[in-house]
Amino acid sequence: MPNAVKKKCRFVILISGRGSNMQNIVQAIGTQGIPAKVCAVISNSDRATGLSWARDQGLQTEVIAHKDYATRAQFDNALAQCVQQYQPDYVLLAGFMRILTPAFINCFQGRIINIHPSLLPLFPGLNTHQQAIDAQLQWHGCTVHFVTPELDSGPTIAQGVVPVLQDDSADTLAARLLPVEHKVYAQVVDWLAQGQVTLTPDGRVVVEGVAHRGML
Ligand code: GRF
Repeated sequence: MPNAVKKKCRFVILISGRGSNMQNIVQAIGTQGIPAKVCAVISNSDRATGLSWARDQGLQTEVIAHKDYATRAQFDNALAQCVQQYQPDYVLLAGFMRILTPAFINCFQGRIINIHPSLLPLFPGLNTHQQAIDAQLQWHGCTVHFVTPELDSGPTIAQGVVPVLQDDSADTLAARLLPVEHKVYAQVVDWLAQGQVTLTPDGRVVVEGVAHRGML
């Protein structure tokens, strides 16, 4: 009897800019045998440079430009409709720089994932690298987490850390962190695709077979 074909996990990725996390996820799926498909890369801006990379890979791309909508609610409604047509198992935010409304988040409850460049709950919002330097932290990092209506909050799936060096600027620290972001997000995508990640009703994350979800 032929082996049953394993269903591929469907991802939609939202970006606003260069999309290096998106690129790394697409490449990890392609090279690491992750049972997943990136159904579409969607941006809120036609100037997102990651879009042309995605197009060159033959991926479906869409632009839902926030500036074309009078309100955040209208934009989110259009975005939700666009995302929904791809029937994703998960929506991955990868440098998506718009705050999503609860209406959007509820549409994909427990299925939206974000990467944030800090060790949450430290430093939600912007300028995280400078904040880590200003706080004289010796370690900085990134967090991949489920998205909830509260900004840069929500249950943590995995974190990565890097040292903060004495002479760091926000730019050098960001550059040191980026490859760790790529590693952590690709690992989480693998866990999601393999069906290992559970969000419990009390808001905890359990990853089957993984005792510690921190990376260097
Ligand atoms: C990353 O630092 C990510 O953590 C943050 O925005 C940046 C996006 O970078 N949310 P890229 O577009 O994935 O290169």
